[in-house]
Amino acid sequence: MARDPRRRGPARLGQIRFFGSVVPADSFREDVIAGLSQPQKALPPKYFYDARGSRLFEAICRLREYYPTRSELELTRAHLDEIRRFAGTGCTLIEYGSGASIKSRLLIEALRPSAYIAVDISADALRGAAAKLRRRFAWLDILAVHGDFSQPLKIPVAQGRGRRVVYFPGSTIGNLTPADAHAFLRMTRGQVGARGAMLVGVDLKKDANVLHAAYNDAKGVTAQFNRNLLRRINRELGADFQPRRFRHYAFYNAALGRIEMHLVSLAAQAVSVGSHRFSFDAGESIHTENSYKYAIGEFRALAASSGFSARKVWLDAKGLFSLHGLAAA
Ligand code: AVJ
Repeated sequence: MARDPRRRGPARLGQIRFFGSVVPADSFREDVIAGLSQPQKALPPKYFYDARGSRLFEAICRLREYYPTRSELELTRAHLDEIRRFAGTGCTLIEYGSGASIKSRLLIEALRPSAYIAVDISADALRGAAAKLRRRFAWLDILAVHGDFSQPLKIPVAQGRGRRVVYFPGSTIGNLTPADAHAFLRMTRGQVGARGAMLVGVDLKKDANVLHAAYNDAKGVTAQFNRNLLRRINRELGADFQPRRFRHYAFYNAALGRIEMHLVSLAAQAVSVGSHRFSFDAGESIHTENSYKYAIGEFRALAASSGFSARKVWLDAKGLFSLHGLAAA
């Protein structure tokens, strides 16, 4: 329930500001053409999240098999006091990806940040999230930055007061290879400064059957989410993919510690993307996503090599998911 701001005493209203798009308009086309031109065809997972893709992802988060969302919410609730003690109150809270989630609301309530900066690649998701948070936290300064946090961002963090704390939940970091995660953590370390901190949600290594089920749900929502990328390419780039001629394929690659998602061509076929033509052999795949899983020690080592000291880790009761508290080293 949203609180009535008039009952909160001195009504200093926060503001919402939008920081214009820092996503180059043509990068989708360029990334798709480049990805499909490689020997192992590949597409970047950040493009899953158009309006339908974002809805499908929310449906995934509600699936019985998809434990990460529920586990992370549970552990955040259970350890909120400690998380507050670690991050402190009155910070500038910077969230990468997914706004308006229950987790963000919990954290904002607990940390009472002086400003909240949401960075998201989906303009629609960002606007919706900012408006929702605005209704709930009338006192909060919200800065909505439409951008791609995998690139160095010129977010106006300097405007916030207090310590900078980056919140990166949901194991989104698992989409990056360990080398890219290292570079990303280093960049973030630069952004939060010497007093800064980071709260990172990281999915844990576990029984491959549990992992397999989470990415191969019985209702086929993950398959729809995966194939939606082809529909998006058709609509936005004038391509002629027939999504039904591609099969969703997800498996745990134990050697690399990651779930891989692919779209496998069911037959030999050719597809046009604008003036470019790509041919597929029967059984040939497009690699659409990696989702890396880290044992606690593995992630700590990665953080340490990136200029952070891993101070805290919180788990859910079943030990499926972790939230790391990192402080600038
Ligand atoms: C949002 C990247 C964390 O890797 O589990 C869910 C995306 N893909 N089901 C994940 C996803 C298939 C998700 N992340």
